[in-house]
Amino acid sequence: MKRLIILPVLLFMTAMNLSAQVSLKANNIDEVLKAMTLEEKATLVVGSNRQAAPNQANGMLGGHSHQVPGAAGNTQAIPRLGIPSTVLTDGPAGVRISPTRQNDNNTYYCTGFPVGTALACTWNQELVEEVGRAIGNEVLEYGCDVLLAPGMNIHRSPLCGRNFEYYSEDPLLTGKIAAAYVRGVQSQGVGTSMKHFAGNSQETNRMGVNEVMTQRTLREIYLKGFEIAVREANPWTIMSSYNRLNGPFTQENKELLTTILRDEWGFKGIVMTDWTGLRNTAAQIMAGNDLMEPGAANQTQDVIAKVKSGELKESDLDICVRRILQYIVKTPSFKGYAFSNKPDLKGHAAITRTSATEGMVLLKNEQNTLPMTGTPTVSVFGVTSYNFIAGGTGSGDVNKAYTIDMMTGLKGAGLTVNEKLANVYKTYKDYQASLTAAGPARRGWFWGTPKLDELAINRNIINAQAQESDIAIITIGRQAGEGSDRQEANDFKLSDVEQQLIDDVCAAFHQANKRVVVVLNMGNVIETASWKSKPDAILLAWQPGQEGGYSVADVLTGKENPSGKLSMTWPINLSDLPSSANFPNARPAGAPVGGKTEFRDFTLHKEGLDVGYRYFTTQNKAVSYPFGFGLSYTTFVYSKAKVKSTKDGFEASITITNTGSTAGKEAVQLYVSAPDGGLIKPDRELKSFAKTRMLQLGESQTLTMRVTLYDLASYNETTQAWETAAGKYHVHFAANVDDVRYCTIFSLSKKQSVKAHDVMRPDMAL
Ligand code: BGC
Repeated sequence: MKRLIILPVLLFMTAMNLSAQVSLKANNIDEVLKAMTLEEKATLVVGSNRQAAPNQANGMLGGHSHQVPGAAGNTQAIPRLGIPSTVLTDGPAGVRISPTRQNDNNTYYCTGFPVGTALACTWNQELVEEVGRAIGNEVLEYGCDVLLAPGMNIHRSPLCGRNFEYYSEDPLLTGKIAAAYVRGVQSQGVGTSMKHFAGNSQETNRMGVNEVMTQRTLREIYLKGFEIAVREANPWTIMSSYNRLNGPFTQENKELLTTILRDEWGFKGIVMTDWTGLRNTAAQIMAGNDLMEPGAANQTQDVIAKVKSGELKESDLDICVRRILQYIVKTPSFKGYAFSNKPDLKGHAAITRTSATEGMVLLKNEQNTLPMTGTPTVSVFGVTSYNFIAGGTGSGDVNKAYTIDMMTGLKGAGLTVNEKLANVYKTYKDYQASLTAAGPARRGWFWGTPKLDELAINRNIINAQAQESDIAIITIGRQAGEGSDRQEANDFKLSDVEQQLIDDVCAAFHQANKRVVVVLNMGNVIETASWKSKPDAILLAWQPGQEGGYSVADVLTGKENPSGKLSMTWPINLSDLPSSANFPNARPAGAPVGGKTEFRDFTLHKEGLDVGYRYFTTQNKAVSYPFGFGLSYTTFVYSKAKVKSTKDGFEASITITNTGSTAGKEAVQLYVSAPDGGLIKPDRELKSFAKTRMLQLGESQTLTMRVTLYDLASYNETTQAWETAAGKYHVHFAANVDDVRYCTIFSLSKKQSVKAHDVMRPDMAL
């Protein structure tokens, strides 16, 4: 009896003594590490699955220093050592926390910014940095420490459900936009978590699928964007992905997380898992995956047991713990930042409104249909016009206070909207809402409410509209998100009702000598080749954030001149993409291999480097809209193209002049074709890009772009080195990948080679 009482007292006294000795500071990390018990170390490498309560397993560890409801995860506090909890929140289109709290009348809405794809289509790093600063400020002022963003997986197929969170089919554009985003967010004194590292290009069985690809494909396409952003922007954290990659789970792969990420690229931050449960904890620690999220007590216990059994060395655990401590001392939570819970939501709404317009891509504009002039009466078709889609679903969704729809946007711009038609849609929406309230259509808070099916509109109504209004707008919407991939029918392709709507509205309005504009409100690519000849103008608005309706109206009325360009190819058919032969939902699953089913257990990247424009330009195959394409309300002339050698590569410059009738910006793309003699390469690859400032009529700007020899290199699997062949490189100054305005030569007299490691070999035949 006595012993039972004395033991806790002794433990308590020991803890008190230790706490008197050391408390975490920016410069005593080794000392704190030395003072930590095994239990404390095992606690620090595991999140607490959103639980604020102290860890009951050992009784002495505290929970959150402050709790942010709805945030995705945390690191655990150890009060006796002065280690606070830190808070991790999603991302990427804004901060994702609960907008309301129990027994609290305040609201905690966050700004819904344009989705990742829309940001990439701005081709404007300064603008993305500005968006990042605004988001980072909301992270800080809502008491969080790390934003779980940016999403950087490659658009391998338009069917990937999460493409809206990601940037592009091209790794250079991905890396540069991500670096700008990270710089912006981190300028506020909070961290980012670049995700999902790596190869997470499909949602189908994302927790189990093995993505298999050659070492060269891996390094040049799927890792390159991460490499660029790590080297340029020093993210505080990186999130390993759910999937397996060439065999092991990424979170258990030392070759990926240590050899490549840290030894080759010099990454200094921490790696955390995606939101997995218990996997092999020892393998994770040894691989260099520092933090397990969202974390569960069984993971902590497992780490302790594995150290005790000798399966995991405590010195390996110490490496992760030290890195987590180095992360913690940088956080606002550690510094005791007095957050306000009152970020400047109004100011940020203005930033999202204008940044969204810069990512919009004008795909077609016959006879200057846009911008609309005067104050026309508009017939607004398409259920999405009345239920505008600000962003995608899942963890990438933001709990914003509102989304401005097209009707509100157009009316705000002073246009008259045909109310008779609006009422038809309102009745339909109200009816659907009554069904949803009764139960069937809800998918829960995480998966969001599905987009309403398109409404078939009677031809008589359409004909009457063509008499009453001056112009028609049809919004076509798409919604997708985490957890599932898209389908070809009724998603990549238009549904029958949508096709009929476009046909009927175009026929009726053209008959009345009036124009039709199609607005695409989506986060991903759809089929356009079969119907794009029908309307007079097509504006790809993407999922442009909470001010969407205003942003669209700003472009339609010419208040803003669109300067977005596509960050991915729009193919004619889905099957034109080589990935379609190797992607779930694009074709039926293949025969099982060794008892495993294709697409579910493994996905073979047989197309290798043939992703997006790399394939289409090399094969000279027609597309619906090429990579980098986008029209403007003005015209630009390119002149004075120059290339001059530098110490480690070349510098390319070009002068852009606005020769049209309104102010505008132009994104210039630099593609390079490699000489023969080295590895076989795609016909051309994007190696740099730059965007002008707003050029007034007749105004010029000279843009300068730098390319290093390392940027020009390809990965040679025989020598396990990045090689830049000697010879003549063709440098193309282009408005899009198929529209080269100038071509000059850069000559390299001596081959360059940078040694890497022979790691991440595929574990299946390709
Ligand atoms: C997603 C991550 C996200 C995490 C936390 C996961 O399911 O894949 O992107 O950051 O959840 O919400």
